[in-house]
Amino acid sequence: TPRIFSGIQPSGGLTLGNYLGALKRFAALQGGEAETIYCIVDLHAITVWQDPQVLPQRTREAAAAFLAAGVDPARSILFNQSQVSAHAEMAWLFNTVARVGWMYRMTQFKDKAGKNSENASLGLLAYPALMAADILTYQATAVPVGEDQKQHLELTRDIAAKFNHDYGVQHFPITEPLIEGVATRVMSLRDGSKKMSKSDPSDASRINLTDDADAIAQKIRKARTDADPLPGSMEGLKDRPEARNLVNIYAALSDESPDQVLTRFEGQGFGAFKPALAEVAVTTLEPITRRMSEFMSDPAEIDRILADGSDRAAAVATPILEKTKEIMGLLQTR
Ligand code: TYM
Repeated sequence: TPRIFSGIQPSGGLTLGNYLGALKRFAALQGGEAETIYCIVDLHAITVWQDPQVLPQRTREAAAAFLAAGVDPARSILFNQSQVSAHAEMAWLFNTVARVGWMYRMTQFKDKAGKNSENASLGLLAYPALMAADILTYQATAVPVGEDQKQHLELTRDIAAKFNHDYGVQHFPITEPLIEGVATRVMSLRDGSKKMSKSDPSDASRINLTDDADAIAQKIRKARTDADPLPGSMEGLKDRPEARNLVNIYAALSDESPDQVLTRFEGQGFGAFKPALAEVAVTTLEPITRRMSEFMSDPAEIDRILADGSDRAAAVATPILEKTKEIMGLLQTR
């Protein structure tokens, strides 16, 4: 059966990149033939230091963002990773399948570990094995993500293939990455060569899902651009990364193609384009921000939704974990 799985870390405020690259698409994938399972990956978040006083709130905030973006607990399973122990158990099994060299090759590890990688947590190195566990504990067939997760998904496929090969079984599917649309890599508003990220030190580089209308308008007004007018199609934006990014954001927000957007703005400069973009951004994000704060005003309700999701997730994951242990020859005495 087709099954979609994806996750988001609760490690700080979510951005427009998370919304367009992930949350919006998670909501759109519901109601198709595939079951949809969405996870707030708190075990991934703690691979770098998280203040235990703050993490529960951030986990609820991430849940509120899923719900506000239209993820419906009646149609999807929504839960936080640490409540379903199968993830951590499966991750250990995959630690014995994956090779150390595969982990050192991950660009996210290199970026996050920095120069002194000997000092990174062991969990940060093993991060992709836990991610493979998230996906394969549900035998998920497709994973919607932004472009930056592509390498991790290739590693998930490598782990599934090596497991199937080593144990001579067809147990795990070779998962398809779903990296689709014009917003799979939303870039920083200050630097068209860097992705928009919650960890960028400059708040002006990103739009946060909690920003109000004034903040959004101001960040777009100050976004870095060039002085040329807009061309009639994306072809003409090849060497203009900042301009391309803003047009892609507009298109993703308004559910148009970038070329459709440019047809309307051909010949105009950013003096005209930026206010129009700010208006689409505010109109689209305002209801989401409002729903997020409504959900946040009832944390007990969020916890209830997540607890119910955890039960449903565990019901899918546990038999697959048990079967995996059996394949590996781990003695089952009960
Ligand atoms: P995370 O929490 O960094 O990001 C969550 C999702 O948002 C996407 N994203 C973006 N998309 C477009 N433009 C951007 N600027 C941008 N920034 C973030 C990410 O690609 C991602 O889809 N390792 C994952 C979490 C994870 C996971 C999984 C995902 C853990 N287990 C299993 C899929 C399946 C991560 O750190 O995402």
